[in-house]
Amino acid sequence: LPRILSGMQPTSDSLHLGNYLGALVNWVTLQDDFEAFYFVADLHALTVPTDPEVLRRRTRVTAAQFLAGGVDPKRSAVFCQSHVTEHAELGWVMNCLTGDGEARRMTQFKDKVSKGQNANVGLLTYPMLMAADILMYDAAYVPVGEDQRQHLEITRDLAERFNTRFGETLVVPDPYIVKGAAKIMDLQDPTAKMSKTGSSPKGLIDLMEDPAKIAKNIRSAVTDTDGEVRYDPDTKPGVSNLLVIHSVLSGTSVEDLAASFAGRGYGDLKQEVADVVVDRLTPFQTRMAELLADPTELDRILADGADRAREVAQATMARVRAAVGLLPSA
Ligand code: TYM
Repeated sequence: LPRILSGMQPTSDSLHLGNYLGALVNWVTLQDDFEAFYFVADLHALTVPTDPEVLRRRTRVTAAQFLAGGVDPKRSAVFCQSHVTEHAELGWVMNCLTGDGEARRMTQFKDKVSKGQNANVGLLTYPMLMAADILMYDAAYVPVGEDQRQHLEITRDLAERFNTRFGETLVVPDPYIVKGAAKIMDLQDPTAKMSKTGSSPKGLIDLMEDPAKIAKNIRSAVTDTDGEVRYDPDTKPGVSNLLVIHSVLSGTSVEDLAASFAGRGYGDLKQEVADVVVDRLTPFQTRMAELLADPTELDRILADGADRAREVAQATMARVRAAVGLLPSA
């Protein structure tokens, strides 16, 4: 089977609906056709200063959410990035292929710096570590949301640069970004993406939130005054976002959904979206409680995933070391 890979940062106590619909749902589907590697990007999370105990907790919670969301650890390797030390090693090689100006031009870095975030060098070289994550597994596709597109472009550039300089060694990956769901919007500000750092509590849906609160947030989502349920992200971003959320969870197209709401108001739409989301998240939350009740099982899954990942990573690093001219260690 061809390989795919993706990761999420453990930077909060719960994933949100954007992570779930934009990425995790696709991770689950793609397991059927690919050998998948799904990891918690704990090294990337170190770019944001975090209390060690909090980081440990969030790393476990993030891995558990992959499983509760439907990732099958028997088929897909689920692991922590830091457990496969080759990631940091290949990250270094990628740093040495990247221009200083090229790294500083990455929009996420520029945004964070312009918002006054105290940037460390890890934040600057974040995309090179991400390139290493992907190239390590010869991934054909990388299922992510729209906000990761530029990171995938630089990954492709670095793979091609490496191959040009050192000979065909790395697989150039393609993004797997599904239209619509790839950018779930903030419920209170539907022109901005839903995000752990940017969204207000009412604009965000945490997967672990109390169902009554989830329903309340959806019912108070910002829409428009036009009154017609129609999919048009440019002029009706709030209504379109609700249609997308419903569509991914119900499997009905946004057009069919819009038609089914003909002559009905936004109140009906919001109530139905709330029902669909709560119906999906209730079993998810039950499964989370089971997984967290017995962390030894979770840790065993992570250890097994790291073993499988390491096998591939070691082979890639051997190829990379030979290509760039590092002596093999005896
Ligand atoms: P992270 O942890 O910010 O987000 C995890 C995944 O969720 C997607 N996502 C969204 N999708 C739709 N709508 C939204 N509002 C939304 N918000 C987030 C993200 O696109 C992502 O797919 N740099 C990565 C982690 C990473 C990685 C990798 C990913 C590290 N190495 C290698 C893929 C491959 C990140 O910060 O994602």
